Amino acid sequence: MTGLALHLEDVTVTYGGKAVLTGLDLDVAPGEILAVTGASGCGKSTLLRVLAGLLPVAAGTVRADGEPVRGTSPDRALMFQDDALLPWRTARANVALPLAIRGVPRAERAVRADAWLARVGLAGLERRLPRDLSGGQRQRVQLARTLAGAPRTVLMDEPFGALDAQTRHGMQRLLAEVWDTGTTVVLVTHDVDEALLLGDRVAVLGEGGLTELVEVARPRTVVDPSLRARVLAALGAPTLETT
Ligand SMILES: Nc1ncnc2c1ncn2[C@@H]1O[C@H](COP(=O)(O)OP(=O)(O)OP(=O)(O)O)[C@@H](O)[C@H]1O
Ligand SMILES: [Mg+2]
Repeated sequence: MTGLALHLEDVTVTYGGKAVLTGLDLDVAPGEILAVTGASGCGKSTLLRVLAGLLPVAAGTVRADGEPVRGTSPDRALMFQDDALLPWRTARANVALPLAIRGVPRAERAVRADAWLARVGLAGLERRLPRDLSGGQRQRVQLARTLAGAPRTVLMDEPFGALDAQTRHGMQRLLAEVWDTGTTVVLVTHDVDEALLLGDRVAVLGEGGLTELVEVARPRTVVDPSLRARVLAALGAPTLETT
């Protein structure tokens, strides 16, 4: 199953009359990893909610494989920035949710949920409730839940923020494996190097719209300093000369 092509054209999103995104144009190719970065409050989570179909646009068009996005779909899975696990369900039962939505038989759900929990390094913790897990462990349960339904598009909002360097690296590798299956990925991150290591393109979101769109060639084992400088400049980071 290939990833979805995402298409935003002249998209404006408002909250209570105040525009957050204005006239945004953006295309994500099937199977592409697009990393999105930008200052806090610029609209990154808003963009993901629009792509997930959770938030209507005030103007413009949003399409997935050419079809207008009118609501949520198991083919477009959103991993939220905030902890979005169901607190009364065990880790296993949380991960099994998208499988239930996909119509997977109950007995098989638990097996597949446990396999995903093992992939994110949580074997043995299947029966824990979210409150009995650490923040980074809950984040990994969310990652497992997002991927378990084999969505054609994965929308991730700072998915690795609460993880130590080594675990983070493992989860980035897992994401690369998922990408290998042809899944389209839109990943929001504040970590410029993470964006440049994972993204086929890195989009910098500023006031209202995109301020930079950088293409990053494969293989990506080290960050190209000139690309990092471009992204940082678009983020408005002060240069060495001016500090
Ligand atoms: N439900 C809402 N009602 C009103 N304003 C909102 C709502 N959700 C978000 N906003 C505002 O819209 C702007 C964009 O929010 P958004 O969550 O998309 O930012 P972000 O880029 O994800 O920021 P961060 O990096 O801090 O997560 C912010 O100014 C925020 O305060
Ligand atoms: Mg956000």
